[in-house]
Amino acid sequence: MSVVARARVQLLAGHVADQIAAGEVVERPASVVKELVENALDAGAQAVRVDLEDGGKTLIRVSDDGAGMDREDARLALQRHATSNATSKIRTATDLIGVATFGFRGEALPAIASVSRVELETSNDAEGGATRLRLIGGKLDGEDESARQRGTTVTVRGLFYNTPARRKFLRATATETRAAVEALTVLALTRPDVAYSLTSDGRVLLDCATRSPCGRRKQAIARRLRRVTGPRCCCFSICRATRWM
Ligand SMILES: Nc1ncnc2c1ncn2[C@@H]1O[C@H](COP(=O)(O)OP(=O)(O)OP(=O)(O)O)[C@@H](O)[C@H]1O
Ligand SMILES: [Mg+2]
Repeated sequence: MSVVARARVQLLAGHVADQIAAGEVVERPASVVKELVENALDAGAQAVRVDLEDGGKTLIRVSDDGAGMDREDARLALQRHATSNATSKIRTATDLIGVATFGFRGEALPAIASVSRVELETSNDAEGGATRLRLIGGKLDGEDESARQRGTTVTVRGLFYNTPARRKFLRATATETRAAVEALTVLALTRPDVAYSLTSDGRVLLDCATRSPCGRRKQAIARRLRRVTGPRCCCFSICRATRWM
């Protein structure tokens, strides 16, 4: 009889189920960049900054000037819940029709937290009062008050530190950096009204300011496309990118 045939059906331990679920959302540093920047855009950020160390394998930090969260929301957003997910973006299944945000599943932050060491600092307070939470492998490890401008900074260290099989599949620093830059470039083209920057080991790889007034979307996208593609950009690709608008 084969091993598979003899095995009994068992419930997985919670942390094992979390790590498997995280695999659906977090494949590599670029997926973390995508999820965190989407959250920043959903929070109404006007400027998003991404910092990477070692292609994101050592550190990924995404900072925004969006709406931020209070302490209770921050706690809820980061931790996986046995019976449900936590999101501010939908309430009922009907809300799924015409959902206008990038995210709505309430999965990304807990998934990222379950396979890394995360620090989240956030403020939704004009007075500058902020909350800082630290999680290790999805478990709350510390919580304190801090001060910062309105917005959120999420720092992800040691991605896949607790899932060595996944860590082993991460590629060379240059490859992971390129994938992260590509992920940010796509979002920078989607929302040319937002300023983005990306540094890798202290070197600026992407720096897109905003100049165009609202409403001049075609020009803004054309300018952004030139900015992110540099010398590779041509009139043809600008026309194709803006034709459908
Ligand atoms: N940068 C941020 N600024 C303000 N609120 C945030 C930020 N990031 C996350 N949140 C809050 O935390 C919640 C959970 O975020 P998370 O990314 O896990 O789920 P989601 O964005 O709702 O859905 P998805 O899993 O599809 O991304 C969000 O719904 C939002 O309310
Ligand atoms: Mg999200």
